[in-house]
Amino acid sequence: MHDKNFEYYRKVRNNGGIVYNNDNQCWEIYSYEACKYALMHDYIFSSNPEYAGGNGGLSFINMDNPEHKEYRNITAPYFMATKINNMESNIADISNKLINNLNANSDIVKDYAVKLPVSVISELLGIPETERSKFKEWSDYIIGNKRDKNFDNVNNYMVNKLSELFAGNYSNGIISVINSGSVNNKNLDIREKIGYIMLLIIGGNETTTNLITNMLKVLSDNNDIMKNLNNDRDLHSFIEETLRYYSPIQFLPHRFIKEDTEINGVKMNKGERLSLFLGSANRDEDMFDNADKFILRDKNEHIAFGRGSHMCIGAPLARLEANIALNDFLENYKKIKIDNKKSMLLENPMVYGYQKMFFE
Ligand code: HEM
Repeated sequence: MHDKNFEYYRKVRNNGGIVYNNDNQCWEIYSYEACKYALMHDYIFSSNPEYAGGNGGLSFINMDNPEHKEYRNITAPYFMATKINNMESNIADISNKLINNLNANSDIVKDYAVKLPVSVISELLGIPETERSKFKEWSDYIIGNKRDKNFDNVNNYMVNKLSELFAGNYSNGIISVINSGSVNNKNLDIREKIGYIMLLIIGGNETTTNLITNMLKVLSDNNDIMKNLNNDRDLHSFIEETLRYYSPIQFLPHRFIKEDTEINGVKMNKGERLSLFLGSANRDEDMFDNADKFILRDKNEHIAFGRGSHMCIGAPLARLEANIALNDFLENYKKIKIDNKKSMLLENPMVYGYQKMFFE
């Protein structure tokens, strides 16, 4: 995703904000109100691909209520801010170690922004210390959707190890919560349990990595802002504004129309697909004054974490990790300047973030 896409978003918003993409056979929604409308009306705009002729998934991000809620609720209480905030000193330790190991040649993506969320999620899941490095390898495959000759080994190893933990009534972390959780009074089967863990890995890692690098980009581009981040309230506004301005997920490609409907007078048919451009909605001038400016706002109702029933379960965790990362970079660096020649944004238009980042 490149910054020039923001100009394209604006053009589409100025022309009604809804277009049909013939190549992808998909409606694309660019305005804030219309995105929010689709997110909030999940009984019309389903998350289940079966409504557009696709295959349903194992994970609850592709289910509709009431089934979705049953799966989500197994772990939801453990992701609430009150629970997650207990991890603060743990996360601070991880971040501290990583930041102390950085040097002038470090790739901030590889050496910090990728490692922090993966370590945190293995802690939260309760992966035993001895399995952490294999788990990290497995996560890298899952996050990168990468397949090579070593993949089968790592995947089989980790699936067997998790199955062993499940079978042995392992009593640590979210793994044990998933293990004892039930839907309709039935425990999840092994495929569902592994699928649940994979969803948490996919949902929670690259997104948080990107939020961290995007905060560093803002600091690099606005040295005056860096000097003025003095208290918790400023840090909070800074993180929320980064989520709005450079939304880690630029669009959600998976909503499926369950019955003929319309948005803003545009008729849509049952069985059609919808992409919701959160990154454009968050730059909508009808919603945000000076939307193309980075401003520490008092009120910031961005939808970078989505809205409605599927709203990000990991938002409190992502915010906590971002807060700790931001604090650590502010403490350890007097000035942050990204080396634009050596750094590179991710090519994938669905996400905003860096594939590599070096400081000058
Ligand atoms: C900056 C970081 C993050 C961003 C921008 C982000 C964004 C999102 C968005 C937009 C959705 C809504 C998807 C939809 O409506 O279809 C979502 C859902 C989800 N996220 Fe996140 N996320 C982040 C971090 C995390 C973390 C840290 C975790 C877990 C550890 C996580 C786990 C999930 C899960 C499991 C869902 C599915 C929720 C459901 O379907 O009910 N996310 N996320």
